[in-house]
Amino acid sequence: MDDSLRSRRKNEHIQLALDTYQTAGTDFDKVQLIHQSIPSINKNQIDLSARFPHFTFKYPLYINAMTGGSERATEINKQLAQIAKACEIPMAVGSTHSALKDPNAASSFTIVRDAHPDGIIFSNVGADIPYEKAKKSIELLNADALQIHVNAPQELIMPEGDTQFENWLTNIQEIQENIDVPVIIKEVGFGMSAETIQKIKDIGIQYVDISGRGGTNFAIIENERRPLKDMAFLNQWGQSTIQSLLEAKLLNADINILASGGVKNPLDAIKALVLGAQAVGLSGYILKYLEESGVDETIEHMKQFIEQMHVIANLLNASQLSDLKSVGYVLSPDLQTYVDQRSKVIHRSN
Ligand SMILES: Cc1cc2nc3c(=O)[nH]c(=O)nc-3n(C[C@H](O)[C@H](O)[C@H](O)COP(=O)(O)O)c2cc1C
Repeated sequence: MDDSLRSRRKNEHIQLALDTYQTAGTDFDKVQLIHQSIPSINKNQIDLSARFPHFTFKYPLYINAMTGGSERATEINKQLAQIAKACEIPMAVGSTHSALKDPNAASSFTIVRDAHPDGIIFSNVGADIPYEKAKKSIELLNADALQIHVNAPQELIMPEGDTQFENWLTNIQEIQENIDVPVIIKEVGFGMSAETIQKIKDIGIQYVDISGRGGTNFAIIENERRPLKDMAFLNQWGQSTIQSLLEAKLLNADINILASGGVKNPLDAIKALVLGAQAVGLSGYILKYLEESGVDETIEHMKQFIEQMHVIANLLNASQLSDLKSVGYVLSPDLQTYVDQRSKVIHRSN
């Protein structure tokens, strides 16, 4: 694909993501957390830092993969990096394929490391990329981890999509064996099943981002880019973020779970943590806020977001992330049915 087409596609994705971001009721609203009337901790005793084998997040929140590869993306990446720095949260860049093909596109990504020299930064590639290029993608940003996105529905719906999938798993394994930062296998908003997570764990990967349905919807975005807009029947394809977390919970695999997809407020974020995520990623929500309010207001808003996650932790009497895992919750009848049916076929891996 030529570079101008790639850059145009990136801008279309940004605009369509802003225009089609889903705000209606999601599965987050179908989970009720159980309130504790007599907390035994004070708010200033709460420490929600997330410890992973390779790094520690000060707060269990990160800006997830979005952009790079166009002029508009450069500006957005710079602003997102400023937000990540000011809020002391990690950040992932969007797919670096454009920079791997065209050196002129590199600065749209390196601007992130320039703006946030000491931050935890994730690079991002697709599952089809040769490992030599994956290495370059890491070097470009001096990245702390490599996200490999798995986006089959997006590729199949997008008019110019790449539909060669047969080597994805072996290629992911080859990348992982040839790089020295951890790999995060990441969905792009279609969620992950227990079977997928098991497959990923079986090849020795330690991190997944289950990125589920509920916010940015690439089935809708790519359908909008089709001349006939004829694939709307896939608009609700995939598992929601909550369903994906329930899948992971039923599997009970020894793997680090990152959650993203439709997180719109601190309560959604805490619900994801209660259901087993170790950190929560924001894409569409923060992009929209930034677009509407600018960088300074977004920084203030995100600081409040983090602060309010601590408020909710206090209400749940949770002083650290591990306490959130034992918080009580009730699922709506349809989510409970989902769990009942899936528990019959998901075999706990440990
Ligand atoms: C404009 C835009 C571009 C995106 N580009 C990428 C990408 O290049 N690589 C990737 O792994 N995910 C990409 N994503 C997907 C997000 O990282 C995330 O998985 C998805 O948007 C669901 O989260 P959300 O509902 O909080 O937006 C993109 C999302 C948006 C909004």
